[in-house]
Amino acid sequence: MNIPYLHDFGGKKALMVNGQPFLLLAGEVHNSNSSSVAYMEGVWDKAETLGMNSLLLPITWELLEPEEGVFDFSLVDGLIEQARRRGKKLGLLWFGAWKNAQCYYAPAWVKTNLQRFKRAEVSKGVVYTRNEQFYGIPYTTLSYLCGETNEADARAFRALMRHIKEMDERENTVALVQVENETGLMGAAREHSDEADALFEAEVPAAFAAYMRGATATMAPDVRAAVEGGAAAGNWQAVFGDVAEEIFSAYHTAAYVGRVAAAGKEEYPLPMTANCWQENGQQPGQYPSGGPVSRMMEVWRFCAPSIDVITPDIYARDFCGACDAFTKLSNPLMIPETATHSYAGPRQVWVVGHHHAMGYAPFGFEEMGQPFTAAASFLFGMDTQDPALKTPQNTEEYAWYTRTLQSMMPLLVNQYGSSSLQAVTSERKEEDTMLFGTFGFKAVMDTGAMSMGQASEAMKDGVCLVLQNTEDEFYIIANRCIILPFSTDAEKPNVDFLALEEGCFENGNWTRIRRLNGDEATLLGYDTPTLLRVKLFAYGKA
Ligand code: DGJ
Repeated sequence: MNIPYLHDFGGKKALMVNGQPFLLLAGEVHNSNSSSVAYMEGVWDKAETLGMNSLLLPITWELLEPEEGVFDFSLVDGLIEQARRRGKKLGLLWFGAWKNAQCYYAPAWVKTNLQRFKRAEVSKGVVYTRNEQFYGIPYTTLSYLCGETNEADARAFRALMRHIKEMDERENTVALVQVENETGLMGAAREHSDEADALFEAEVPAAFAAYMRGATATMAPDVRAAVEGGAAAGNWQAVFGDVAEEIFSAYHTAAYVGRVAAAGKEEYPLPMTANCWQENGQQPGQYPSGGPVSRMMEVWRFCAPSIDVITPDIYARDFCGACDAFTKLSNPLMIPETATHSYAGPRQVWVVGHHHAMGYAPFGFEEMGQPFTAAASFLFGMDTQDPALKTPQNTEEYAWYTRTLQSMMPLLVNQYGSSSLQAVTSERKEEDTMLFGTFGFKAVMDTGAMSMGQASEAMKDGVCLVLQNTEDEFYIIANRCIILPFSTDAEKPNVDFLALEEGCFENGNWTRIRRLNGDEATLLGYDTPTLLRVKLFAYGKA
């Protein structure tokens, strides 16, 4: 039976669904919208106007298991059947014990039994605080050390995965599952219960200590220094020094999530992911300590082997840097959440072309095209001074990008892992050149140059993706940039166009809209999204 799996394409992993390469050109729905199939009809309508081929949507522990041991799959069935009717795929988000480092979605029978399902003590005996970063809203969560919670969470997730196998193994509507959401502890770098203190004072498991000493090459500098400077054996402080508390939390959080994921995989081994609330320059506890941030990826790899992909929620201004940080340890790039402002569309193209990403999903895409409210940007933890926030993403433009990537999917994925697929973005203007053997392309992306030389406030929404089809033939996605082709052959320094066409792919075949020549071949400058087929000729002296 063909079930969705991660295939290795030239060293980059991407999804195979129904036996075909499948890039998740998705959107993540607002937290509460998938609690109603009827409400989701309007959400799907918006997704289809944006050209999305899939949605990421929550399945919650509270609605799945309203009473202990009593499971209600009616909502899951309705959501899967709804996606099938529209010919789309799903990524399901298991909101179990964790959601934004809190236990919002644990069922009432879990929340109300604090003896059986212990809460995390952010300081001795304190399980309830206020998050002063967010208007003092209340903060509490379940303990990553509580076996009862872990077992109950894993039982529920196991039941969910067993049911999905029964009703979807043939159709492959569900392509992947995210296990929990933004795990970790807020308010402290580790839990401070008596149990946590005793474990923190105990010996670090020898296998883990040895693994960490052998995994320093990819570690963040401070983590590497702490591991290399620590003792080979001893308690957590002795072995991991200044990073001991975060590593302790990551060890136990990842082990918790890993047990839930493993239980689900025993029933139906779909690709499973874990997403993270990023540190954004803060200290553990100001961001969820123990969550799968890039600096803790080595810990998560050891403790949660059933998690296939660690995924970043990226609202930070340095989008490109955040992407880079999550491609270490051969981790495929899958972005389950990101901003819907004016860079959303170009970023989708860039992550596919530059990082050969397996998926991309703006969060709360339901409002895409509307001005970003200060409340939303604050809630999303965004830099409210970011100029990108001033301009909503044009939805027609977003749809063009998504549909164009969808139309090129097999071509794109077949070049994953190779240098035949590259992209540049105006968010990294200094990286403006792509080389393909004899030929290269420079993309000038300062939109000031595009507006007749007026130094506009250069928005960073220019993008250029180049896919080399043959030695001298290329397909190019371009917007808000000027493309300058050149030869790298000193003997043949001159370049001419043998073909320059604007077009699209229809059912996998190139369809020419216009043959471009004359003025349109003098300067390849684009202020609207354009797909080109280019055939070049390099020559020297006669
Ligand atoms: C990140 C979370 O993962 C989402 O569920 C949502 O709460 C966003 N933050 C918006 O705040």
